[in-house]
Amino acid sequence: MPTASAMAASGARVCSRAWAAARRACVAANAAAARRAATQPARWHGPHEMPREIELDINGRREVVSAEPDTPLLHVLRNDLGLTAAKYGCGLEQCHACVVLVDGEERTTCATAIEAFIGRSIVTLEGLAPAGALHPVAAAFLAEEAAQCGYCTPGMIIAGVALLERNRDPSDAEIRAALDPHLCRCGSHWRIINAVRRAARERAR
Ligand code: FES
Ligand code: FES
Repeated sequence: MPTASAMAASGARVCSRAWAAARRACVAANAAAARRAATQPARWHGPHEMPREIELDINGRREVVSAEPDTPLLHVLRNDLGLTAAKYGCGLEQCHACVVLVDGEERTTCATAIEAFIGRSIVTLEGLAPAGALHPVAAAFLAEEAAQCGYCTPGMIIAGVALLERNRDPSDAEIRAALDPHLCRCGSHWRIINAVRRAARERAR
């Protein structure tokens, strides 16, 4: 038996009674599915807590966000606060694309709950450039053309800032050790190392 579309394509008339019956059956099936969905209990999505208001100190400002306390900080930064410099790479604390400064130290944010950051001073790359002025480490990255795709760059700059805060005159080995946990898929490593070296030199002047 030819299908309705084959009949239509051939110019034959589609039986309107059969068409109407098929349509009624389809509408009834959809309505039944909707009724079933409405009477089923809500799905359980895991052991998350309910969202609540959480106060954070970010880039010197008090920010209040409504979030489940176990939400990773990175999600809150990017999705709730529009601070997108820190990047989502692996989500497993392996690539360090997501780092920010927490009380002056570099910390990953992709897998640590927002709750762990309450009462801490959080600084993102955006916070290092108030009023758009580049931080000296960021300026050194620009001068050395250290970014290729740029995905790892915010994390690398944060690492450079944290290093120069604790060590004003790092050796090459110390620079490499500080950057070691950071992955760069583009292979810009030498230019990144040169940028941190340049920032240290210029800071010492
Ligand atoms: S995204 Fe956080 S370490 Fe990779
Ligand atoms: S510049 Fe592309 S990942 Fe590092």
